[in-house]
Order: sequence, then C-alpha cells, then structure tokens
Amino acid sequence: MSVNNVKSMTPKVELVRFPVHGDERGSLIALEGGQDVPFEIRRVYYIYGVSAALPRGFHAHRKLNQILICIHGKINVHCEYGEKEEEYILDSSDKGLLIGSLVWHSMTFIDEESVLLVIADGHYDEADYIRDYNIFKKEEGK
Ligand code: TYD
Repeated sequence: MSVNNVKSMTPKVELVRFPVHGDERGSLIALEGGQDVPFEIRRVYYIYGVSAALPRGFHAHRKLNQILICIHGKINVHCEYGEKEEEYILDSSDKGLLIGSLVWHSMTFIDEESVLLVIADGHYDEADYIRDYNIFKKEEGK
C-alpha cells in the first residue's frame, strides 16, 4: 500500500473500531500499518495536558491522512469538509477517527486528563498545513 493512499481513505472522515484483545488481565489493541490502519505509518504523536478552554487544531492538511485515538479521557473533534460539518466524541481506546486530507478540524479536550494519540502517514511538514480557513475553502474548491 502506498503512502497517502487516498483511494483507501474514502470517505474523508470515518469513525472506526479496532479489535480489542481482552481477558482477565485487561485489554490490548494492536494497530498495524496497511491492516488496521489504511496506510503505512510514518509518524506517531500524542497530545495531552490540554485545557478544555483551549481547543487545538484549526487547520487542514494538503495531503496527510491521520487517525485520531483518545486513549484516555474524552475529546470532541469538529470536522468540516465539502458541505459537511460533523462532531465526533472520542471516549474509548477502541475508537479511531480517520481524517483524510483537506478536512478542517479542531479538537476540544472535554476531559483535561485526556490523551490524544495520532497516527499519520507522513512526516511532519509545515508546508502540508493549511492554517487559514479562507485558504482552506479556496484549495478545497479547486
Ligand atoms: P500544532 O500544529 O500547533 O498543534 P495542533 O495540531 O494541536 O494544532 O503543533 C504544535 C507544535 O508542535 C508546533 O511547533 C509544531 C510542532 N510539531 C512537531 O514538531 N511535529 C509534529 O508532528 C507535530 C504534529 C507538531
């Protein structure tokens, strides 16, 4: 599977469930690139210690595909693309929110103890970010 495999990323935003290996010792979730995650994994980062009053994000990516997983706590994710405007609540480690390219998104940490794990198919590249909403709407319309 190629990196930034857009074909496997339709729809642009999708809530997915991961299989849990659970027993009396607890739970384990394993995510393998190209299998549980529809792209090759190039980067993992996590965000924590975020005040509920300070939402983050407010950008879109030109090419990057990502999966957001709230591995602890409760996070609201707002997404806008095309004519759509959607809210997702991430409150379980087995839920993943697939966000493709050209989706304007922001995250609110409803529970301030939350930890957001993000898996991406590209290395960090500031040139891939669209941080201005009006430029996002222009690029989306092309
Ligand atoms: P920023 O894009 O502002 O975070 P958010 O997605 O929550 O809006 O990133 C915060 C800082 O971290 C910024 O200086 C860029 C840096 N950063 C990296 O160095 N590597 C990364 O993979 C990411 C996502 C951010």
